[in-house]
Amino acid sequence: MDKFVINGGNKLYGEVSISGAKNAAVAIIPAVVLADEPCVIENLPKIKDVAVILAILKHMGAKVTKIDGDDSRVEIDPRGITSYKVTCEKLVGDMRASYYLLGALLGKFGKALVPFSGGCSFCERPIDLHLKAFETLGAECNILPTQIELTSDKLEGKPIYFDVVSVGATMNAMLAAVKTPGRTVIDRAAKEPHIVDLANFLNSMGANIKGAGTDVIKIRGVEYLHSCTYSIIPDQIEAGTYMAAVAAAGGNVLIKDVIPEHLVSITTKLRDTGTVVEEYDEAIRVIRENDLKSCNVKTMPHPGFPTDMQPQFVALLSTANGRSRVMECVWESRFSYLPQLRKMGADIIDNGNTAYIYGKQYLNGAKVRALDLRAGAAMVIAGLAAKGITEISDIKYIERGYEKIIDKLTAIGADIRRVTYLESLDDEI
Ligand code: UD1
Repeated sequence: MDKFVINGGNKLYGEVSISGAKNAAVAIIPAVVLADEPCVIENLPKIKDVAVILAILKHMGAKVTKIDGDDSRVEIDPRGITSYKVTCEKLVGDMRASYYLLGALLGKFGKALVPFSGGCSFCERPIDLHLKAFETLGAECNILPTQIELTSDKLEGKPIYFDVVSVGATMNAMLAAVKTPGRTVIDRAAKEPHIVDLANFLNSMGANIKGAGTDVIKIRGVEYLHSCTYSIIPDQIEAGTYMAAVAAAGGNVLIKDVIPEHLVSITTKLRDTGTVVEEYDEAIRVIRENDLKSCNVKTMPHPGFPTDMQPQFVALLSTANGRSRVMECVWESRFSYLPQLRKMGADIIDNGNTAYIYGKQYLNGAKVRALDLRAGAAMVIAGLAAKGITEISDIKYIERGYEKIIDKLTAIGADIRRVTYLESLDDEI
């Protein structure tokens, strides 16, 4: 029950390095289930979600070895995974991305039995498209009381069309198809950087996947996936969160180890607020000296503005001059955190999938909750920019997705501490 305590108002200066991408790591690790030889994965972020998915693979029989004692480099030998059944219900229920085990086990064994996944639940998160893709390849899907069961007599590559663009369904279809005989064509595929990363990882083991990063992904099934060493891309959303933090608090920070092309939509919107963003080969400098200007943001699948940056931007725009409009077009509802920002004095009206933000000169520190991972990041950003002390509870959500957030923010001048529940100023929120 620890909390983050932020004494807001410090401008941020210096350098911060971005870790490997969470959403790539939590798909690539389950993808190792499909490999016929051990694989080395590098640049893994040191976060709870990665620890949980590695623990699940271990429980399934994989051998997981840290290389040189470094959590960010592990060798995973999946040859001990001999059953299509996943029995560690609690671990699977701890994270959303455990649903990638469905596609991976179906691709390996032709069947899968996986407990329901958990994770951030800012709104209902269906998996009907994942199941539809498995069925198209020849699987039968049964929703049991606490598990999903996939069975098949024979899987065969087929055309798969998604009527909604889905990251998870695209990844799961790729996992199921990579060893399935024949040709699978995924139409209206998601194009996020982590989709390309998963395809690159599978291809570096000998898979035949073309077109990842476009609307159409073509997969020719292969029989064998050999060993490889693969380094995960930098985290687009972690980078975007630090960019928004610097813009909100003010200052001048070099954000290193990023792929600037992955950040274009975020960079564009930050520039609309009057923030200066300089792009280098593998770094971005964010400078904010003047008052923030309001702007309008609409979340869309990649290459649009990422929904996973929406709460952080709403926090940022809470102190911009004028009225901003933020439309959430990926998730049905993702504004449940707004009352937390209002506790800090933010003036926001929401109507359906749209929030109107009337910028205030400053926010005030308050006791707030991290309702989910990105909503929690928004509270950190608001706290950094606010006057006075902000206490954030439920930080377990934030720590699921941000490696060493306290160390990284402290190194650039933020006054932020992690305190135990008893030490915090008041238990009541
Ligand atoms: C992934 C990310 C999440 C991000 C989201 C959108 C991971 C682990 N999580 O989640 O952080 O917010 O992409 O960028 O990578 N949908 C359906 N049926 C389905 C699946 C999805 O209708 O079977 C809908 C959803 O309700 C949502 C939209 O599709 O409206 C996009 O969801 P999706 O891209 O699948 O999100 P996730 O993969 O779960």
